[in-house]
Amino acid sequence: MAANWKMFGAAAQLQVFADALQLDDRVDAVWFPPALYLGAAVAVAPQGLACGVQDIGTSASGAHTGDIAAEMVADVGGSWAIVGHSERRMLHNEGDDLVGTKTAAALRGGLNPIVCVGETAAERDAGHEKIVVQRQLEAVLDRIDHGQLASISIGYEPVWAIGTGVTASPEQAQEMHEFVRQLLSEADAQMAAEIRIVYGGSVKPGNAAQLFAQKDIDGGLVGGASLDAADFTAIINAAAQAR
Ligand code: PGA
Repeated sequence: MAANWKMFGAAAQLQVFADALQLDDRVDAVWFPPALYLGAAVAVAPQGLACGVQDIGTSASGAHTGDIAAEMVADVGGSWAIVGHSERRMLHNEGDDLVGTKTAAALRGGLNPIVCVGETAAERDAGHEKIVVQRQLEAVLDRIDHGQLASISIGYEPVWAIGTGVTASPEQAQEMHEFVRQLLSEADAQMAAEIRIVYGGSVKPGNAAQLFAQKDIDGGLVGGASLDAADFTAIINAAAQAR
């Protein structure tokens, strides 16, 4: 279960969240605070709560002002990176190629990437959701060694469901997750069965159980509801019950 804090939170909130959160050893949990707080989050995270960043640069080092290398994330105790979040794609013009390159960079630095894919409302209305997700996924598969798939998770996040309070129905989400797994199985069938495909887009304590009950939904990428330790704990519990 992933807690994507986006550009929310403050130094004083880290310890409060860490103290209030209740983990379940059946559910892997990862915390993605703003990168500036990563070291502090690692220092206060309870055992069993991994930490990561919401984006990374493509190089291991160099003249890239403002970028953070995957190797640096690992150096301060981070182990995960979100790559290709729709807010990066839209607000920073990140294209499929760059998302693929970032995924490879995360793997090179020893991180576990969660690669985000998902269509906009207009793309779904046009009936293009699978075409879009396939294009986004293939750009990543083209840039990594398929043997590395075991270290990757996929986040299916329909853009129209992010931060809107409108969740994909469990059936809509399941259909897309199944599609993603089928695409992955063309790269490596065994790996595709094991890879985690998590859903993101207005996951809340009230809808989590129904989503996680779907066959191909292996967890959640939670934004708004992850800022509240009680809500995130409830979502972790829903995932534990679904296992
Ligand atoms: P949300 O965000 O849960 O606030 O919709 C999810 C995400 O963007 O990862």
